[in-house]
Amino acid sequence: MELNKNTTASTPIPAGQFAAASMDAGLAAAPADTGYGNPAAASGGAGANPNAADTNSNGAAPGTPGYAYTEYTTSTSSPDTVLTLDDVSFSYGERPVLSHVSFSFDRGRIYAIVGRSGAGKTTLLSLMSGLTNPTDGRILRDGRDLTSYDKSLYRSSDIGVIFQSFNLLPKLTAVENVQLSMEIAQMNRGNKPNSAALLDGAYRCLEQVGLTRDEADRRVLKLSGGQQQRVAIARALSYDPACILADEPTGNLDEQTQAEIMSIFRSLAASGKCVIIVTHSSYVASKADVTVDLKSLNSMTK
Ligand SMILES: Nc1ncnc2c1ncn2[C@@H]1O[C@H](COP(=O)(O)OP(=O)(O)OP(=O)(O)O)[C@@H](O)[C@H]1O
Ligand SMILES: [Mg+2]
Repeated sequence: MELNKNTTASTPIPAGQFAAASMDAGLAAAPADTGYGNPAAASGGAGANPNAADTNSNGAAPGTPGYAYTEYTTSTSSPDTVLTLDDVSFSYGERPVLSHVSFSFDRGRIYAIVGRSGAGKTTLLSLMSGLTNPTDGRILRDGRDLTSYDKSLYRSSDIGVIFQSFNLLPKLTAVENVQLSMEIAQMNRGNKPNSAALLDGAYRCLEQVGLTRDEADRRVLKLSGGQQQRVAIARALSYDPACILADEPTGNLDEQTQAEIMSIFRSLAASGKCVIIVTHSSYVASKADVTVDLKSLNSMTK
């Protein structure tokens, strides 16, 4: 679909580097199953197909100081589309959160999803990551309804999730966290993991997000917040997913580290991945290709 784009930033890490590392190690999938809520689905409804969003052709989203926006309306997907929200509604019990949300995400782009606290951003990521099913409507991966996927396999190969709270295992070192993710992915694919090869691949993934060997061998609680964030990114990338979902990946990070994290995401987009970031940061939104204000997609709040 045609979107209003920002001019994109530079690409400090060569495109395809992550993919090369993970493919070399013969990797696959991730854990990342924790951290999101465990909502009880309830009723929803069918109806309109809005798909109106705000893009940061020049800056800011409505009500969000720091970046301007241009409104556009589109509902079509393209051959580049990797994930589609098709008239998605979701309720926690009797409490509706999302209503008739439609949007398509294309490969090779960075999307920033913004909106007020409680707007449903994390809920939306949870739906897209296959942890929760919509109350109504469909989520499509390459045109196929997510409900027909093996969810473990989907989360082990198609999608990499980066949680705001990292969800790293504190008793393991950084490299063990990444290696474990790779092993789970392999097992979800029905393969017997080759631990030595995976360890090697895990080190390379961490190196590519800027961690030294010494840092990779440290327990994650002995790393800084920004370093832990890089481990979480490396883990999500370790099985070379087509789509990265990140929930506030730069929360509590200084500007320099935010810029470095965004450079990593830019490299991933340049290598063809679709990067979807939930954020309250106007800096992050300004570095995205497309900024989507959830309010403008959600029939409840439009
Ligand atoms: N497990 C749950 N059960 C019931 N209600 C929930 C659950 N998780 C979230 N909610 C409610 O759903 C709404 C959307 O929550 P969500 O976490 O998606 O918001 P958000 O946009 O991510 O907010 P923030 O920017 O603060 O992270 C909120 O009103 C929240 O209280
Ligand atoms: Mg949230």
